[in-house]
Amino acid sequence: MNIPTIQGRQFHFTDEDFQQIRKLIYEHAGINLSNSKSEMAYNRVARRLRVTGVTSFEEYLRIVQTQSAEREAFINALTTNLTAFFREPEHFTILADYLRSVVSNRTIKIWCSASSTGEEPYTLAMTAIEALGSLSSCVQILATDIDTQVLKTAEAGIYSIDRIEKLSPELKKRFFLKGKGDQQGNVSVRSELKNMITFQSLNLLEKNWNIQGPFDVIFCRNVMIYFDKDTQLSILKKFVPLMTKESLLFAGHSENFYHAADILVKKGRTIYGIAS
Ligand SMILES: C[S@@+](CC[C@H](N)C(=O)[O-])C[C@H]1O[C@@H](n2cnc3c(N)ncnc32)[C@H](O)[C@@H]1O
Repeated sequence: MNIPTIQGRQFHFTDEDFQQIRKLIYEHAGINLSNSKSEMAYNRVARRLRVTGVTSFEEYLRIVQTQSAEREAFINALTTNLTAFFREPEHFTILADYLRSVVSNRTIKIWCSASSTGEEPYTLAMTAIEALGSLSSCVQILATDIDTQVLKTAEAGIYSIDRIEKLSPELKKRFFLKGKGDQQGNVSVRSELKNMITFQSLNLLEKNWNIQGPFDVIFCRNVMIYFDKDTQLSILKKFVPLMTKESLLFAGHSENFYHAADILVKKGRTIYGIAS
């Protein structure tokens, strides 16, 4: 076992190591780690060193550059996956009204482009069912994320019961099953919701997205904050051909796309449509 260094760190960690981490996560995921995130980067990447048995950051970062499986684990380690059911709830009230207004015989397509552990796409599915009743069977949700680990959690649809604490008793009863035995303390999402969603890994930074538009609704919330303005703009430009004149793009409440005013117009609080 390694002896912790004077600073209490198990591994030697230089500013060069940190700058290399910043470079790699920017290149591969678009994530712009500020200089203040050195401690966070150390803690998260050090876990990978322990798992892989590698004893120096220098060697580990070399592996990240040459082995795609470890690169995936490195990206997974550095993403921030904070999310919740009905996060920024007024968006779902607006979405429900929107879905009622567009409902027709065709399939309604929703893309949740940074779906994390699944709370957001399941909230989209609940909103659609509540808004459209039996017509919700026409709603298809694509849920994507770069982080392959959170996608597994999302697909499993099993959550600690406290994650749904704030939901109304009606929603809890309608959409969740209480776990028993070794699942005591957990709830699982009912198949009615799961059946509406397809989970897929997708890196927003990639040149080609393996998805089929157009989408009536795109959720891209609380992920752009990790990207610089140029990266945001190049992603937003790729959303536009996947939208119609009526489509809505939802961003997180702390995000704004003023720098994309020539391609997107504001339709509500952090809600956008394509400029005509
Ligand atoms: C803070 S969570 C937001 C989750 C959810 N959209 C919400 O608002 O609650 C950000 C998510 O973006 C994902 N992410 C980060 N970089 C990404 C990229 N380049 N492509 C796709 N997803 C990315 C992370 O893995 C993480 O799950």
